[in-house]
Order: sequence, then C-alpha cells, then structure tokens
Amino acid sequence: MVSPAGRVAGVLTVPGDKSISQRIAMLAALAEGVSEVSGFLRSSDCLSVLKGVTQLGASYALRGETVSITGTGGRFRAPAGSLDMGNSGTGLRLLAGLLAGQPFTCEMVGDASLSSRPMKRIQEPLLQMGAKVELLGPKGCAPVRITGGNLKAIDYKPAVASAQVKSCVLLAGLYAEGVTSVTEVAPTRDHTERLLNAMGVPVETTGLRVSVRGFGAAGPRLQARSWRVPGDFSSAAFWIVAAALAPGNSIELRDVGWNPRRNALVRVLQRMGAKIDFVASADVSACETMGTIRVEGCALQGTEVGGAEIPDLIDELPLLAVAGARAKGRMVIRDAAELRVKESDRIRSVVDNLGRLGVAVEERPDGMVIEGGARLKSGVVVDSYGDHRIPMAFSVLALQGGGAVEMRDVACVNKSYPSFWDDLKRVGGHVA
Ligand code: S3P
Repeated sequence: MVSPAGRVAGVLTVPGDKSISQRIAMLAALAEGVSEVSGFLRSSDCLSVLKGVTQLGASYALRGETVSITGTGGRFRAPAGSLDMGNSGTGLRLLAGLLAGQPFTCEMVGDASLSSRPMKRIQEPLLQMGAKVELLGPKGCAPVRITGGNLKAIDYKPAVASAQVKSCVLLAGLYAEGVTSVTEVAPTRDHTERLLNAMGVPVETTGLRVSVRGFGAAGPRLQARSWRVPGDFSSAAFWIVAAALAPGNSIELRDVGWNPRRNALVRVLQRMGAKIDFVASADVSACETMGTIRVEGCALQGTEVGGAEIPDLIDELPLLAVAGARAKGRMVIRDAAELRVKESDRIRSVVDNLGRLGVAVEERPDGMVIEGGARLKSGVVVDSYGDHRIPMAFSVLALQGGGAVEMRDVACVNKSYPSFWDDLKRVGGHVA
C-alpha cells in the first residue's frame, strides 16, 4: 500500500545500472584474472547472470555492492546442466551471443515471463553466422539450445531497434573471422560497445552501423580490470518523475549514469515544462558519464513521443504514461509496439492499471493516448503483471495525491531495484 507524500524531496544515490552490471559480469567471466566491480547491482537479474557464468567456469564473490569475478581466461567450459536466466532478457540474449562462439552445446531456460518473449530475433542472426540454435519453447521462445563454434562474420539488419539483439550479434562476432556489422533501424543503448572499447576491442560506429573485427574461433583475449558501475538512470527515473510532477518538490540524485541513449526521458520531461539539470562528476571506468541530476517540481503539460526517440526511453515509457496522467492535456505514445514483448505487455499493463485508477486512456497497437489531469479513484488495487517497472511506475503516481494505492505481487521489483521501497520512504512516501 503506497500513500502520498506531502512533498517529494531528498537526496538519493540509486543502485547500479542493470544493463551495465550484467554485461560486465559476462565480459569479466570471459577475461583472464580477477575483475573488481564496484557499484554492481545486486538484483535478481544480475544474480541470474552471475550464477550462469559460474556454470561456465567463472567464479564470483559478493561483498556489499562490490563483486569480484574470476574469469575463465577466454574459454568457457561446457556446463553440467542448463543455465537458468530467471527473468533476465539481457542475460539470455547476450549470453546466447557468447555461447554461439563456444564449441559445445548449452541450454538456457527462464521463468514464465522470459519463456514467453521472442527469441527468433537472436536465432536468425546466430543461424546466419553458423551456430546451431534451437528454440525449444512454443512459438519461438525459450528454452534456447545453442551449439556454437565455426562462426562466420555477417552484416546484419535487425527488424527491430534492440540493444539486446545488437549486442548478441556483436558478441558472437568476436568469435568469427572478419568484420561483423549490425545496422540498426534506430540507435539503441551502446553499453556493449563502450565496454568492449574499454577492454581494448575496437567497436566502430558509423551512423546506424556498428562493427567489430572478430578474433576467430579462439575468441578475444580479454584482461580482467576494475570497473565502477554508475547508478541506473532507469531507477533514477522514478524519482525524477515523482519530483518533476508538482510544485514544491525538489530532489537530488547522485552518481547517476548519463548515457545519451538512455536519458531521453529528461528531454521529454523538459519539453513538458520540467525543471531538470545535470552536472557531470566523472567519466566512469573511461566509458560512461555519471553525475548529479537535480529536479524542481512544477506543473507539466502532456506531449507526444515516437520515432527514434522511443529506444532511448523504452524502459521509461510506463513511467512517462503515469506522468501523462498527472500532466495537463493529452499524452500520446506511438511507435512503441516493442512494449508488448517486454517483461509484460506493457501497453496492456499500463492501460489496465490507469483505467482502474479512473484515468481516460485509449490503447493503440503501438502505444496509447492518455488524457491528463484526472482525479484518481481511491481504494484501487494495481496489478504488477509480474513486471518490475509497473509497480514502481504506479507508486510514483500514488505519491502524487488521491488515496492510497494497493499494489499486488510486488516481489518483481527485486529484478532491478531491491531497495526501491526504502528509497520511496526516503523521499517522503509512505509504504505499508
Ligand atoms: C536492454 C535493452 C532493452 C531494454 C532492456 C535492457 C539491454 O531491451 O528494454 O531493459 O540491457 O540491452 P531490447 O533490446 O529488447 O530493446
């Protein structure tokens, strides 16, 4: 049960970035030596990846938010059983790329939600590269069985804008001879490219085309190093919106990752009238910018989002919909059909829950239209749909006023933000 804060205010340091933590776990597992990773996100998705790479021969030790990962020196070993990726789409799709380069058979499974998400998008390029990839679930879904090795470089154009697909192909490309390229329909988050560059593997980006030169069947010789993971912009986003929505609010978020392919939410909120500024503090691990975000609340106006902006705020769209419900006027989200294949069908999950709260919202195949400024109904129960971002987004709405909102099935929040409820209290919210 979340009830409104009189005022959203405070100073927070959000936990580490989920996309970056998972990628570092995989690359450190492949490297030679021990990698020290500070700011590592200790969430269920990241633990799924850590356990998976242990089965492939790496090992790890967690101390608070630091993890040391002992790598395999470039050679994964065939695992005894299948790797359980839990709810992690990034874990399954990116590891599939690395496994496509290994000369053994390995199966990956996931929970019910991950086992209903599309995997043909990674099967198609990996088959073209020469790996054997079987989708053992119904309708092209996990479990995924991969027999890797003997890869050839490809020039691939994915049909959807997806950093997971791009990363999967680039990681497989490390095991091919020659240059593997991915030409995107719109730019997506580039953490894999930045990490590989920082590890001495040049990844070149020219417009929408991203290329890596492979090392052949032996794969790359990566060296262990220390990393610092910046705070997750997608976690900071909840507090950015919570503060931005009403006059009198004021929040400061420290050490947040500021990647231009991740922070489009800020640009959209500024278009809506929000007062947000960012001051860079560090270039983390020589590959990602991090800094302090300050937000002062004020009245916001609805806007329209679509096109190439969508991949840069894909994970923030449920939250933006919530902002639209509180803003003046109409909010339109289009070109976002990818939301239907996230941890839940996020168009359905958001439209259903907004409707329960009395917000006028129209569902569209690729998005939704929200009429802002509604008086929220009280005594409402919001369903998480087992999708972490849904209860967190609706908690932000509950903080704004109206009655207390009951959230069902909220354990999913542990996927990306285990300390979410503590932070909600820190900024003035009430949780029972
Ligand atoms: C991610 C990419 C995005 C994003 C997901 C994490 C990543 O997925 O929604 O939360 O770590 O690369 P898609 O690649 O499916 O768009």
